[in-house]
Amino acid sequence: MKLFIILITVVLAKGLSADFAPSPAPAGNDSLVNPTLVTVDEGAVCLAGNPAAYYYSKGFGRGSKNWIVYLRGGGWCSGFADCLAYIDRKGVNKDPTPITFDYIFSNQKEKNPDFFNWNKVIVRYCDASSFTSNSTDKIGNTTLYFRGARIFRAITEELLCLGMGNARNALLAGSSAGGVATAIYCDRFRGLLPSASRVKCLSDGGYFFLAKNHKSGNQFLSFFEGLTKIQGSKNALPESCTARLSAELCFFPQNFWADIETPIFFLMLAFDEIEV
Ligand SMILES: *[C@@H]1O[C@H](CO)[C@@H](O)[C@H](O)[C@H]1NC(C)=O
Ligand SMILES: *[C@@H]1O[C@H](CO)[C@@H](O)[C@H](O)[C@H]1NC(C)=O
Ligand SMILES: *[C@@H]1O[C@H](CO)[C@@H](O)[C@H](O)[C@H]1NC(C)=O
Repeated sequence: MKLFIILITVVLAKGLSADFAPSPAPAGNDSLVNPTLVTVDEGAVCLAGNPAAYYYSKGFGRGSKNWIVYLRGGGWCSGFADCLAYIDRKGVNKDPTPITFDYIFSNQKEKNPDFFNWNKVIVRYCDASSFTSNSTDKIGNTTLYFRGARIFRAITEELLCLGMGNARNALLAGSSAGGVATAIYCDRFRGLLPSASRVKCLSDGGYFFLAKNHKSGNQFLSFFEGLTKIQGSKNALPESCTARLSAELCFFPQNFWADIETPIFFLMLAFDEIEV
């Protein structure tokens, strides 16, 4: 069964460096979770070459075989100078700091009745490619590491070692650029968990679509074209799409959602403003 609901009427696109990362969680008695640096593949690195990371909170009780994996957003970069600027703007070269697990990541039953006892993972976003990139670029002494696809592969491999392979229920979720990644990887995530009885995906604020805006025309198309070229994204995009269309077009969920076999829920605000 495919669960598919879209609520879209208008997107007011102001620019492309969308960042819908959840606002800092208020300090309460939710747990502060330390980052885990990826070690299974030392080539799975952020744009500036530092190790990728994720945050893991172990499930307990009846939730111990349930998993939620959340892909954070943070826009993208397209072109060498833009990616260099992205590193500074987002601080993706810095060491990851502990974060508070709140809302659907809270471990308190009253606040989070559905997921409080699940295994919960929040993946750091530091590749600026929705986890699709797989190349390297160098100008002068500066190297940019485009390793998003390797990061996704390495982190899921580590999670399988932590017990995700025995998951009964699993949810892949993500927002914005992480919502695009969720759509791109939904079926492959399903494929990692053949013995799970239920696997679903939630793409939140990730249904960027091919349309002109009133100010600057179709920015997304040329932006995704630059992105997929410099970052070597093509091979990570759904093959059902790249067999028919160019890589940049396969960055738009509208061009491949119909091929997704795993139940996926798209959530998009009726009015979505994207900041530069
Ligand atoms: C935890 O939160 C509850 C209610 O939100 C509050 O009553 C309690 O004092 C808090 N405990 C600690 C240790 O902060
Ligand atoms: C680049 O690296 C070389 C050799 O390590 C060094 O001699 C040169 O000064 C560096 N150039 C810049 C612009 O940092
Ligand atoms: C990245 O590309 C290389 C070939 O250049 C390939 O061997 C490798 O499997 C790719 N990695 C991922 C995660 O797609």
